[in-house]
Amino acid sequence: MAKKSLPLSQVYRLLEQGPVTMVTTSRKGRPNAMTMSWHMMIYFEPPIFACVISNRNYSFNILKESKECVINIPTVEMAAKAVKVGNTTGRKVDKFEKFALSQEPASKVDAPLLTECYANLECRVIDMKMSEKYNIFILEVVKAWVRPSKKRPRLIHHCGKGVFVVDGKVIKIPSKMK
Ligand SMILES: Cc1cc2nc3c(=O)[nH]c(=O)nc-3n(C[C@H](O)[C@H](O)[C@H](O)COP(=O)(O)O)c2cc1C
Repeated sequence: MAKKSLPLSQVYRLLEQGPVTMVTTSRKGRPNAMTMSWHMMIYFEPPIFACVISNRNYSFNILKESKECVINIPTVEMAAKAVKVGNTTGRKVDKFEKFALSQEPASKVDAPLLTECYANLECRVIDMKMSEKYNIFILEVVKAWVRPSKKRPRLIHHCGKGVFVVDGKVIKIPSKMK
């Protein structure tokens, strides 16, 4: 069947795979959270990855200033909350109170861990050279936490316009990748 032309504004929906994450930051002891699904692994060890945090977001300013954050990874049970957090700015609103986000202190950064999330990655910004032009921050994970009781977490992946794919069937194929 012939393919149809896709509007360029929708290309991200094809490449964007998630998982959807929630970025926590902290400014003067006041925490904030935003939802973020544009990210890409760069290096195994130490774990380094890139993420896009738009300069229209309050989190952009806090991250530039504090140079640290936590990348929290929610499962499907938390999907609705993650969308609400990603549809509200924390400039004037305390999203922790508004969306009943439970938090606990991180070990190496000031930003808090989101307790309900399956995993939490404490990160430091190691490169902001592309932050002005592309809103790209390079993050190094300095401490990682994961809930051991969750064997197969069902993470969520953003497909655009309120559509998400939830992790499903697991398949195994021998591979040289560790
Ligand atoms: C599913 C989802 C994914 C999102 N992914 C990103 C992203 O990758 N980068 C980004 O800058 N904003 C992303 N957003 C938008 C921000 O979460 C949103 O602008 C948020 O209100 C910013 O909050 P803040 O102003 O408190 O920082 C996403 C929102 C949703 C709902």
